[in-house]
Amino acid sequence: MAGRLDGKVAVITGAGSGMGRAMASLFAEEGAKVVCADISGSQEDVAAAIGTAAVAVRTDVSSSADIRAMIATAEARFGKLDILCNNAGISTPEKQLHEYDEDLFDTVVAVNLKGVFLGMKYGIAAMLKTGGGAIVNTASAAGLAAWKLNSAYGATKAGVVQLTKCAALDYARQNIRVNAVCPGITWTGMVTGSAELTVPPADAPLPPGTPMERWGLASEIAAAALFLASDEASFVTGTAVPVDGGYVAG
Ligand SMILES: NC(=O)c1ccc[n+]([C@@H]2O[C@H](COP(=O)([O-])OP(=O)(O)OC[C@H]3O[C@@H](n4cnc5c(N)ncnc54)[C@H](O)[C@@H]3O)[C@@H](O)[C@H]2O)c1
Repeated sequence: MAGRLDGKVAVITGAGSGMGRAMASLFAEEGAKVVCADISGSQEDVAAAIGTAAVAVRTDVSSSADIRAMIATAEARFGKLDILCNNAGISTPEKQLHEYDEDLFDTVVAVNLKGVFLGMKYGIAAMLKTGGGAIVNTASAAGLAAWKLNSAYGATKAGVVQLTKCAALDYARQNIRVNAVCPGITWTGMVTGSAELTVPPADAPLPPGTPMERWGLASEIAAAALFLASDEASFVTGTAVPVDGGYVAG
């Protein structure tokens, strides 16, 4: 059966855990060649589990040199870049704004916001060489609605939403679609501390504020990213799609 990404080459950041890992596996199942990028080392295991359709690259998304090397890996290994998922991100401890260290603020901006900018800057340059592509940025429901004690993280994710929309307009006539997924509270390493436990145990406490009263799953975020990355979304650009169990509707 034909895959939804047959013939496509995808780069996924944060591919060592959670949503990025789920995207890498799903995209490969759908026929894509996948570059698994992460800073943690786990990208090696994810790529090895996929097999010859994947390659791992150690990437710090806040480093321009690393991002350039990541895009160059896609071109050298698989010949082009069709799909880029700027998904890597870090959370911040809950604090009132005046309690944030300046260094912590700079770090979360460097990874969550500048990392997406760098991915798009060098990814788009590669896509322009081959006639287009699709970008899916992982923002957050926290970039659409304000969450208490979450100012630094929320500001970066709101920034990702706006970077997505502005870039979508910039490249609308050049066959590059740019969209964002905005996950709600999702059971991943970011909240569990483990890249391995992909489904919440029955006794896991319910996440606060989610109308569906359950955790989101990394596979559910990956499914939305797959649609946005695929040709099925050929007329979809500049969107920030909540995948959040109703969080931002509430
Ligand atoms: N889990 C949630 O509830 C939730 C909700 C909304 C948005 N998000 C966003 O989803 C994205 C994926 O997170 P996740 O929930 O799968 O968490 P996760 O911790 O399971 O995965 C994030 C991955 O990003 C990698 N990473 C961190 N810093 C990096 C850097 N500088 N360079 C390269 N890789 C780096 C980590 O090593 C990790 O493998 C993030 O952007 C996060 O902000 C998560």
